[in-house]
Amino acid sequence: MSALLEEINKRRTFAIISHPDAGKTTLTEKLLLYGGAIHLAGSIKSRKTQRHAVSDWMEIEKQRGISVTSSVLQFDYNGFKINILDTPGHQDFSEDTYRTLMAVDSAVMIIDAAKGVEAQTKKLFKVCRERRIPIFTFVNKLDRYGKAPLDLMDEIEKVLGIPAYPMNFPIGIDGKYLGVFDRQKDQIELFAEDTTHGQLARNSEIFSSDSKEVIEKIGQENFDALQDDLMLLDEAGEKFDKSKVDSGDLTPTFFGSAMTNFGVQNFLEEFLKMAPSPAPRMSSDGIIDPNDEKFSAFVFKIQANMNPAHRDRLAFIRICSGKFERNMNVWHAQEDKLIKLSQPQQFLAQDRQIIDEAYPGDIVGLFDPGIFGIGDTLTDQSHKFKFEDFPIFPPEKFARVQAKDTMKRKQFAKGIEQLTQEGAIQLFNQVGAGTESYIVGTVGTLQFEVLQYRLKSEYGVDVILTMQPFEVARWLKFEDNRKITPSTLRGADRGLFVLDRNDQPVLLVENEWSLGWIRENNPQLILNAVPFEKETAL
Ligand code: G4P
Repeated sequence: MSALLEEINKRRTFAIISHPDAGKTTLTEKLLLYGGAIHLAGSIKSRKTQRHAVSDWMEIEKQRGISVTSSVLQFDYNGFKINILDTPGHQDFSEDTYRTLMAVDSAVMIIDAAKGVEAQTKKLFKVCRERRIPIFTFVNKLDRYGKAPLDLMDEIEKVLGIPAYPMNFPIGIDGKYLGVFDRQKDQIELFAEDTTHGQLARNSEIFSSDSKEVIEKIGQENFDALQDDLMLLDEAGEKFDKSKVDSGDLTPTFFGSAMTNFGVQNFLEEFLKMAPSPAPRMSSDGIIDPNDEKFSAFVFKIQANMNPAHRDRLAFIRICSGKFERNMNVWHAQEDKLIKLSQPQQFLAQDRQIIDEAYPGDIVGLFDPGIFGIGDTLTDQSHKFKFEDFPIFPPEKFARVQAKDTMKRKQFAKGIEQLTQEGAIQLFNQVGAGTESYIVGTVGTLQFEVLQYRLKSEYGVDVILTMQPFEVARWLKFEDNRKITPSTLRGADRGLFVLDRNDQPVLLVENEWSLGWIRENNPQLILNAVPFEKETAL
């Protein structure tokens, strides 16, 4: 096996998706604990505050042991090189999360045993499903009362449309779980009493499934309940089929409790065995295999001012093929230029470090002097191509944004421009309104608060935000390519006529009903939910 292939086979690059509060942070922390990347979990302060003040967003991110803005964590476990891509834990829908999912090879979906499948989980799941990546489920908070395991599996199948195959099954009744039955190994794992609130990795005892000792330990009632459930699963449950797991049509499901470490190690080990190593990617030149010796990567995230002391801006790339070497020269497809990749960084728990090499599946942070955009491709100079475009999300919330102090117009424009490049917001200009104010579109309202906060803290600009009543944006074109202006478009005043960053006309309207009127009264009009050259909206 080539050295490159050996490295690829070790890589597991995935995201953890969940509704806020299901336990993503806790599980991530525990995976780091088992991976030896941190030595004491649970030392992170209460995260409750995080949800109260959005304005404390960056501050809080910094205080947390695992910074959400660090975006990616790499650690080793049993010979595997693991890359966890963190999806921001905001309550709100965020495009950022979706872009992150473009860079992973599999996903771990956390479900709170008491709450079942929640709204945000559904949205995130949908994106994973569309990419057809394998999805693994961790049903969390089994240390307390929750829905019955069989009911939860049923709910996953009904609500998400994916059958669940329990890899292990909790032993116990109504939240008093003593361990799990491992269906693959046909053995019972009983957990030692946790007296550390999950700060330390947990010990467990292994028994064969028919051991007499087990009945003594767990009691006849628990033993019988387990037998009943297992029989039901064997008779009526899904059969395990790895090819269905690989195509995202069956989700291996693990029961556990991230807080008390119950089932975490078992989950990690089984997950690593089943999760795919870096997958090939589609490009303008066909499929790019990770094992192709020639380097390629794409930018999936841009984040400015991660380190306030340095005011730097990082572009995160996912390596897709070949070996990455520090100071290598690569071709930047979108700019058609050769660039040198100096000072690449990787992230381990809280620390960043400069790295010399990286492999497919790895995520590397590059200093970005403002040249990168989301979705950009980097390749070896002797094999030029572009990876597929990222999906664009039609904005649904709009606000007029202007600087309070007109003297600060320059910083204001710079800040707005950078945040647009990061993909945090979409920018529109109202025809005739000049550069005094912009119309900003987002997919969720939280992004406005983040925008306001970041313009203030990073660019020193106070802004006035005026929410607009629109919820739908449509890019416009006449069939005969006649120019669209507020006067050639009938009913333009029923919404707000704006131009996007490429001067393409866009109409913002309040609802589908207004849209219907515009459609009826402009028979030659073509309306699109995303810019015309990008047809891949979700
Ligand atoms: P998130 O990143 O998905 O938003 O969730 P997070 O890990 O922050 O967990 C949300 C809350 O759920 C936290 O409680 C956390 O301690 C708790 N939690 C996580 N895993 C488990 C589990 O396995 N069992 C139980 N019972 N609780 C769990 P909190 O009160 O908001 O914060 P804290 O004071 O505990 O830090």
